[in-house]
Amino acid sequence: MACRIRVSDPCKPLECAAIYDTERPLEVEVGCGKGSFLTSRAAAHPECEFLGIERMLERVRSFERKVARLGISNAHVLKLEALYTFHYLLPLHHARRVYVFFPDPWPKRRQQHHRLFGGLFLDALWMRLETGGRLEFATDHEDYFHAVEKCFAADARFRRVDPMPRPPEVWTEFERMFRAQGLPVHSAAWEALDVPGAPSELPPLTVPPELEPREREGEE
Ligand SMILES: C[S@@+](CC[C@H](N)C(=O)[O-])C[C@H]1O[C@@H](n2cnc3c(N)ncnc32)[C@H](O)[C@@H]1O
Repeated sequence: MACRIRVSDPCKPLECAAIYDTERPLEVEVGCGKGSFLTSRAAAHPECEFLGIERMLERVRSFERKVARLGISNAHVLKLEALYTFHYLLPLHHARRVYVFFPDPWPKRRQQHHRLFGGLFLDALWMRLETGGRLEFATDHEDYFHAVEKCFAADARFRRVDPMPRPPEVWTEFERMFRAQGLPVHSAAWEALDVPGAPSELPPLTVPPELEPREREGEE
C-alpha cells in the first residue's frame, strides 16, 4: 500500500477501508512536516494506523522517504490543507489522538485569520476524535498558546487534560530547532467529550477567500 494517499475530490470522505485497517486505532498529525515524530511513532506502534497531513510537497516527500527507510506500512500521508481534511475527509469519531506540534503561529495581527485553531477547526476536530480521544498541542509561541487555550476553554465539547510527556525521543524537527535556540516550549492537551444530541454532520465549509488553501506553483 502506497504511503501517500491520492485524493481526487477533497470534499468527499476518504475511502478509509481501501487505505488502512479501519479496525485499528488511528492517530493523525496536522502539519507533520518531514514526519520524524509520526514515522517513529508508527514504527514503535505497529498495532495502530498513522496519518500525517502536510501541505508542502518537499516535506511530504521526506515523510515518504522515512517510511520507505523504516519499512513500515502503517504510516500514511496526505498532501492537503488540514481544515479541509478534517472537515470533509476523515472518518467520523475515529481518531484516538490528533497531534498539532508547532503550527505556523501567524504572529502579526493582520495574519491571524490564517491560524488553524478557531471555531471551524474545533467543530471538525470534535467530529473526528473518538469520545475520550485527545488533541495534543505544542508551540514555542506564547501568544498563540494562550489564544488556543482560550478557544478550548470556550468550548464545552472538550476538557483539558495533562499533555503527553516531551522527552527528546518525541521532539519534532521544529522542536529540536527551537530548543537548540533556547526557546520555551508550551504544551497542552484536551479530550473530546460525549455530547448527546450533537449533530453528526458538518454543514458545507464556506471559507472566506483569504482563507482558501493556496497551492505553490509546480506542486502536484
Ligand atoms: C512550523 S512547521 C512544523 C512542522 C512539524 N510539526 C514540526 O514540529 O517539526 C508547520 C508545518 O505545518 C504545515 N502546515 C501549515 N499549515 C497547514 C495546513 N493548513 N494544512 C496542512 N499543513 C499545514 C507547514 O507546511 C509546515 O510543514
